[in-house]
Amino acid sequence: MAKKLRAGILGYGRMGRAFVVAMQESALWDVAAVYDICGQARQLARQQVPNAAIYDAPDAIFGDPSIDAVGLFTLADARPQQIRQALANRKHVLAEKPVAADVPTEWQLVREIEASDRLVAVNLFNRNAWYHKDLQRFIEEGEIGDLAVIRVCHMTPGHMPLEGHDPEGPPFHDCGMHYVDVARWYAKSEYQSWHAQGIRAWGYKDPWWVQAHGTFANGVVFDITQGFIYGHLAKEQPHNCYVDAIGTKGVARMRHDFAEATVELYGVHNTLRKSAAFNDKKLDVMVDVFARSILAGKNLGFPQARDSVIASEVSWAMLNDAISHVPPVRGTPEEMLEILEHRRNMVNGFGLPVKTQELAESELIVR
Ligand SMILES: NC(=O)c1ccc[n+]([C@@H]2O[C@H](COP(=O)([O-])OP(=O)(O)OC[C@H]3O[C@@H](n4cnc5c(N)ncnc54)[C@H](O)[C@@H]3O)[C@@H](O)[C@H]2O)c1
Repeated sequence: MAKKLRAGILGYGRMGRAFVVAMQESALWDVAAVYDICGQARQLARQQVPNAAIYDAPDAIFGDPSIDAVGLFTLADARPQQIRQALANRKHVLAEKPVAADVPTEWQLVREIEASDRLVAVNLFNRNAWYHKDLQRFIEEGEIGDLAVIRVCHMTPGHMPLEGHDPEGPPFHDCGMHYVDVARWYAKSEYQSWHAQGIRAWGYKDPWWVQAHGTFANGVVFDITQGFIYGHLAKEQPHNCYVDAIGTKGVARMRHDFAEATVELYGVHNTLRKSAAFNDKKLDVMVDVFARSILAGKNLGFPQARDSVIASEVSWAMLNDAISHVPPVRGTPEEMLEILEHRRNMVNGFGLPVKTQELAESELIVR
């Protein structure tokens, strides 16, 4: 068998750990080294990745010529420096989104990445999802006529204020940029106009639910709803996650509950329905396509920095539009504290398998 690719991991938090598991399960990767600023994370890495070198500074990883690629799984504020150091040391890069904490830096990085001969993948995980591929194939076959309306919804009892991810921004950017990317990917066009409305749940300073609607340059219209205010204290926690692609003749749609995804296709010739595992962030797909791309010397289909930066820029702009419309307040700070306390004590939320639960975008605190 060919020699495995060697990866250096920066950031051994939730996403770093999940990527390491995917690499350990892949025949194409060896996890050679792990770096994290946090001692507890390094201790965990020593136990879970016993053959890797564990570091409290990243320089040894960048300086190791045997390392082919780095995984950048810290937070957005650390990423620009790490991407630059990786490219300067001729490492391929598998980065989490967003690539930086502000839009001008993100665009500067796109220019540097596109001028480099290294491969840089960004974890826009929806682009690796089987269900979106099914929907898009059906649309390309002409089964729904011309795509006219794309509707995307992602509401879960997810990440709360004060639970981290500050450099990634409020949910409509942190998580919503994925769905801004999904709508643009389906529309195959650039955003042209929008109007957004939010609500400041519990009186928190940032809107924790936002809906935007508007147009693409090619005439497709969209609505995107993202909110982490969906049933936090409900006895059984709900989700409402779907894509609804409405054509001039038919409909292609999917929904999921983090465990299972269901695709329903209503075309002029075919009606199809399929349910299969949601497969969470599809990191197995990402590490596989990224490895095969490195071996082939070209991108065989991984998501790219430019798409991530457009999604980041537009989601910030939509969020700011929602803020400009003075989001009303519903709920109280006491309710927010009650939810935070509830989540701190949650060990097995959602009734999902722990692996799914830990990786789910709803990002439970599991203690
Ligand atoms: N693509 C997705 O669907 C998705 C989902 C969740 C999170 N994310 C992104 O992944 C990134 C990581 O998120 P997470 O949920 O794993 O966060 P996390 O807080 O669980 O993990 C971050 C880890 O990075 C470490 N770290 C932070 N700054 C560092 C630095 N300068 N040097 C070294 N280590 C550092 C922390 O100690 C921690 O162990 C974020 O940018 C987030 O936006 C993406």
